[in-house]
Amino acid sequence: MGKLNPFKWQGSGKVYSLPWLKNRLEYSSDPQRIAAYAKTPFTRSRFVMAMISEFHLSRNSIVVSDDSHAMWLKRIARPHMPTDDAIPLIARELMGRVFPLAAPGHGEQSLQLSDRLIRELYRTMLDNMLKVTVLKPLDDYIMRTRFPHRSRPLVLEGVMYSMRLHQSLLRPVCLLFDGLFFREVRYMKRVSAKLEQMVCDFTIPKPNSWFSTLAELKASGKITRAQFRGEITSMLVSSFSLASALGSALLCLAARPRYQQKIHDDPAFARYFVMEVLRLYPPFRQFGYEQVPEGSDKHLSGSIAHEFMVPVVELHRDSSIWKDPDKFYPERFLEPDAMKGFKYMPFGMGKRSCPGRSFSMSLITQSLRFICSDECNIRLAKRGAMPKGGSGRLVSFAYDDTIAYQAK
Ligand code: HEM
Repeated sequence: MGKLNPFKWQGSGKVYSLPWLKNRLEYSSDPQRIAAYAKTPFTRSRFVMAMISEFHLSRNSIVVSDDSHAMWLKRIARPHMPTDDAIPLIARELMGRVFPLAAPGHGEQSLQLSDRLIRELYRTMLDNMLKVTVLKPLDDYIMRTRFPHRSRPLVLEGVMYSMRLHQSLLRPVCLLFDGLFFREVRYMKRVSAKLEQMVCDFTIPKPNSWFSTLAELKASGKITRAQFRGEITSMLVSSFSLASALGSALLCLAARPRYQQKIHDDPAFARYFVMEVLRLYPPFRQFGYEQVPEGSDKHLSGSIAHEFMVPVVELHRDSSIWKDPDKFYPERFLEPDAMKGFKYMPFGMGKRSCPGRSFSMSLITQSLRFICSDECNIRLAKRGAMPKGGSGRLVSFAYDDTIAYQAK
């Protein structure tokens, strides 16, 4: 990967630098530059769309659609999000499945958190977001399948994009590349396609569910079959971002036990804890935008478009913006202005920002509150170190995600 360094982002305002490549990817983690950009009309960048299309085949979901389709579908989806009063129970059941207790007297148990969380959150999303009853063949498949979370490194994504390898004519080159160097990516795409089919074949939609609403939209021709399937796949993709965030939160809680007591005594504090986790460990390491003509949501044709990428980790750990940026200090969010300006954006910005923000924040907060409460029958064992913050992948997970726990 060292050979890719000449292509690497080199600080605020720098662009991928080789002139014979597409040279319009600006990277900036300067809040003032981001604020200035946010005043111009923009939509999701084609680079991000190209990366996301590759990520578990979400090639036809809302994420890669134009603004008007995204706005329309988000409005229809909103009432199907779990309500605030339902989330404590969802969180409690989730934690029960993530940390099952062995027979009494059994000592400490440990597990690889990310894999367990992706699987369990996917079941949670099917049950509570898509709102379907999962039948045994699908449940068995989810339980026995491995969910690796390694995608191509972001630097490489940038280079491949600059070389226009995302275009369909050059697709075979990408496939060859993945076959040679990124087998897990290929494997995960197969899993994703299989899951998409199995969700159609082995679930029963609950009344007024998001699944049946999507099926009606498909039947009435308002969305295509591919878009219907794309939305099913986006449940799996959301499970990955949620698993990354919840995993980091649990690992931080295990590494900083004094906060377990604090959240036990003051459950409202869990929210600040989660904000700090998302500052230091944002699941999406970068996302990006592209200018559009005023009043339009259509990408400009050709290569004249200027794509603007926000490297979130750099923004969240900039010492000119944050005091002691590398210190884990949730109390910083008690300050009323802590998030003011464009300096904290784990869920993106503008009209294409994450519609799952409120649900995700609540689910993670409630999960931590439950783990720290007297009702919970397990205790997390102390971890020696804070998690190491993943790598330069689209969705990043902690490197060492082993977590230990025991009965109280
Ligand atoms: C902690 C967990 C999550 C994080 C950190 C996260 C973060 C993000 C980010 C950074 C974006 C891109 C925003 C932009 O381009 O400005 C995004 C988009 C999106 N997220 Fe999330 N997300 C999370 C969970 C979820 C969940 C649970 C759902 C499902 C309900 C979801 C649904 C979406 C959708 C549909 C979009 C695309 C929106 C559009 O295209 O307009 N996310 N998310």
